[in-house]
Amino acid sequence: MSRYIIHTFGCQMNKHDSERMAGLLEAAGHVRAPSNDEADIIVFNTCAVRETADDRLYGQVASLKALKTGGRPDVLIAVGGCVGQRDGERMLRELPHVDVVFGTHTIHELPSLLDAAASGRPLASVAEETDRFASDLPSVREHRWHAWVPITVGCDNHCSYCIVPYVRGPERSRRFEDVVTEVASLAADGVVEITLLGQNVNSYGRDRYGSPRFAQLLHAVADTGMQRIRFATSHPKDLSSETIEAFASIPSLMPYLHLPVQHGSNRILAAMNRGYTREQYLERIDRLRDVVPGIALSTDIIVGFPGETDDDFEQTLDLVERVAYDHAFTFIYSPREGTPAAVLTDAVPRDVAQSRFDRLATSVRSLSLASNERAVGEAVDCLVEGPSRRDPRVLSARTPHNRLIHVPLPVGETAAEHAGSVARILITGAHPWFLTGEFAAPPV
Ligand code: 5AD
Ligand code: SF4
Repeated sequence: MSRYIIHTFGCQMNKHDSERMAGLLEAAGHVRAPSNDEADIIVFNTCAVRETADDRLYGQVASLKALKTGGRPDVLIAVGGCVGQRDGERMLRELPHVDVVFGTHTIHELPSLLDAAASGRPLASVAEETDRFASDLPSVREHRWHAWVPITVGCDNHCSYCIVPYVRGPERSRRFEDVVTEVASLAADGVVEITLLGQNVNSYGRDRYGSPRFAQLLHAVADTGMQRIRFATSHPKDLSSETIEAFASIPSLMPYLHLPVQHGSNRILAAMNRGYTREQYLERIDRLRDVVPGIALSTDIIVGFPGETDDDFEQTLDLVERVAYDHAFTFIYSPREGTPAAVLTDAVPRDVAQSRFDRLATSVRSLSLASNERAVGEAVDCLVEGPSRRDPRVLSARTPHNRLIHVPLPVGETAAEHAGSVARILITGAHPWFLTGEFAAPPV
């Protein structure tokens, strides 16, 4: 028996994959360790989407060399996920103290790769693609009340800046029946909330002739009785009217949509190969708000794409303010080797990109605050997640609109008693990144 620790970077798909890696390792008889110092197996599940996460990974793995040379030569270091997929054998050459490199399609091989490496053979195993879904593997969920449920893997969109299609492979949809059966068994197992996952969930079923599409999947999943349903991520060009209408007709589908726009200028959207114009995007938003009044909207935005002019950037700011997002995730463009945009020559100078980014961040912050302020006074059913990160006497919970809310822990009660329960909470205060509230009725 060995003790393992998994460090997860990046997106929700990686969080899901890490739960499966934990499941595999526990099925092989290993137990979780609280820190690197107490672990015999250290796994990194990595992200290649932007340079910063990539650099941090190489830095963190390099720093573990000291652990191995400083008296713990038997510790096994494994690197998986998108950087493992991209770098394969090359990583073993660059970081010789790494024992195992695995990819996004070879998660199931992790225990056998570790066994082989334990007998002194560093190994890299990366496959081009697979029809296997990590969801068919054993799992140790981070929270007993929440589950990630992948419905597609990979991506066929080839946005010009994005490395995902190269490290996650072409888009594959999971079998309709498999998804519905898994959700039904999760509901029976006491899971309160699921998040359906895919790089572009809206194109679910496109690769399976005659298969039901995403909106039908939503209805079937809701019919299992699952209490709260979310999904990510959506591509604006594939968001169908049926999916928009599902928000109105499925009460358990939470009123929140993450709809990455990436940019506000048509010229840059075309250079990004996004497949829609700002007018088409805004038209989708209007439809959504007509059908689902009060739906919360968030987005991803890239600043400083090659060739972005002041005017292009003003169009992004204008779009953000027009939509009045409840939240936005903002990024400075980061060239990724092998993507079409990486060869573009008209880079935006770093200081220009940074000052645009800062202006955008200011706008996003004030929109988030305004959105949170509008929610004050409502009483909503929230899913309690556990103690807040900063203060054990405060509970963190999520509103249906995916807003984070902090509630004082009732005197004499523990956070563990509340975690995973759905409670009616009165929203009493607003900050840019969270709300405060109080229990409006005893937790149910
Ligand atoms: N540079 C900056 N941001 C990127 N994203 C994806 N690729 C890049 C890149 N090369 C952002 C997009 C995407 C989010 C997950 O990361 O906004 O939606
Ligand atoms: Fe990347 Fe575009 Fe696919 Fe999203 S839709 S994963 S941004 S290529």
